[in-house]
Amino acid sequence: MMLRSLQIFGSLALLQAVASQQIWDIWQTTWDRNMLFTYFQPTPDPINFVTPGTIGSADIVIDDSSVYQTVYGFGASLTDSSAELFNNLKVQNSGSYWQLMDYLFNATDTANSAGFSYIRVPLGATDFSANTYSYDDINGDSSLNDFNINAAPSGVFSVLQDILSINHMTRFHIVPWSPPGWMKSGGTMSGGSLDTQYISTMANYLLKSVQAFSNKGIPIYAISIQNEPEYSDSTYPTCSMPVATEAQIGLALRTLLNDYGFSGVKIIGYDHNWVDAANYPVQLMQQAESAFDGVSFHCYQGSVSDQASFTSQYPNKEVYFTECSGALGSDWWSDIKWYMDNIFIGSISYGSSSGLMWNLALDGNGQPLLPGTDSCGGGCRGVVQINNDGTWSVNQEFYSMAQASKAILPRDIGGPWGQRIGVSVGGSLDWALVVGAYKTGRVSPNDWNRYSIVVLNWDDSASTTWNPQPVEATIEFRGMQATYTFPVGVTTLWWYAPN
Ligand SMILES: *[C@@H]1O[C@H](CO)[C@@H](O)[C@H](O)[C@H]1NC(C)=O
Repeated sequence: MMLRSLQIFGSLALLQAVASQQIWDIWQTTWDRNMLFTYFQPTPDPINFVTPGTIGSADIVIDDSSVYQTVYGFGASLTDSSAELFNNLKVQNSGSYWQLMDYLFNATDTANSAGFSYIRVPLGATDFSANTYSYDDINGDSSLNDFNINAAPSGVFSVLQDILSINHMTRFHIVPWSPPGWMKSGGTMSGGSLDTQYISTMANYLLKSVQAFSNKGIPIYAISIQNEPEYSDSTYPTCSMPVATEAQIGLALRTLLNDYGFSGVKIIGYDHNWVDAANYPVQLMQQAESAFDGVSFHCYQGSVSDQASFTSQYPNKEVYFTECSGALGSDWWSDIKWYMDNIFIGSISYGSSSGLMWNLALDGNGQPLLPGTDSCGGGCRGVVQINNDGTWSVNQEFYSMAQASKAILPRDIGGPWGQRIGVSVGGSLDWALVVGAYKTGRVSPNDWNRYSIVVLNWDDSASTTWNPQPVEATIEFRGMQATYTFPVGVTTLWWYAPN
């Protein structure tokens, strides 16, 4: 049959040229939780792209001639606390553990799973550890003879290995919350700053960390020099680090990584709030551009548009969004709107290649937290809640990231990741939709690309009467038009078209 139709149409290329684009696959999360990252196919028929008619109340215009950065995905940090909860679950109920791991990380195109693919891992203790430690706590050990990655709980590495066993494409980004205390002015990991005589020692410490993860079968994609270098707190591991210090460590580390066979490992600077995007990260590039592949941002101060203060000056450097935390007690749907607008559509539209939350897992009280720390005032919420009775549930952070993740995962095993493409919204309700658009290439040049959009409909009159309104929208693509009514919520859908 296939051969006959090929003969009739003359060639496969002609067959594809006459076939129209169609939307078959939709993932949706709605404000009323009727849909929770739910997959469905439009029935009875797919949605066809047809000759354009009148535009809808919102008109989504895709411009696939503008192709921007590759997006490597979404995820969170595997803190010691998160690892402990995952391991407790594995011991208590391994079936439930593997079900959760699959739901989080399985990146197969058709899987009912978020396919998270970017994990940040602290080097040593954070405010979410059982105690304060580094990989070398022997005073004055400048040769790092006693460097020992197994100072970390073994559960960290077993969970990372389990993640890799489900999603072999996962990118791991490592970063310390503080150098060992003996390298610092105050002698403690909790606050203070690096004694500059230890700059090359710290670069060696980071090289040894990359090597040690590698030796455990966890390949490192990227490393940052210092988490939140503009913040110091005496109740948990933190370290204020001036630009000049981070720049010098970066330059020394770049040389070491290159010399020891890790030239592919990226060095990412800053790793702090949007608010200072015009200063610290810019100065870092002025002082050490050759060492840093890019910079990363957190959400706690400033706004996502601040990312442009960096990207406008260094358009060829990479940008990652690496941390934001949910707070216990906040409103589920308000959070999803904020996350999509500012991070999982927003930060990506301002050039980020990742979108990450803070703890991958915590319990329902935001525990376990480092004893005595003042961090996370009202309680932090994990992407996943793991309870001590062996049950788990996923939070609004999960749904927000899962909706974004589906749009950019490789379509083929070994295939390319999604790239952001141009998109704008017109029509009388242009304000009602926030949209990200992506193109995912294929392994075989004969296969059609996948084009996907992630759409937030936030027309809910939340500040006045509460009146959630579906928005009838048109989608314009290469002179053709599809029509879909977006409920208040987040919708991810895709279609295929020739390159
Ligand atoms: C991922 O999901 C696919 C599709 O549901 C399934 O066939 C596969 O076994 C899953 N992979 C893993 C590692 O769980």
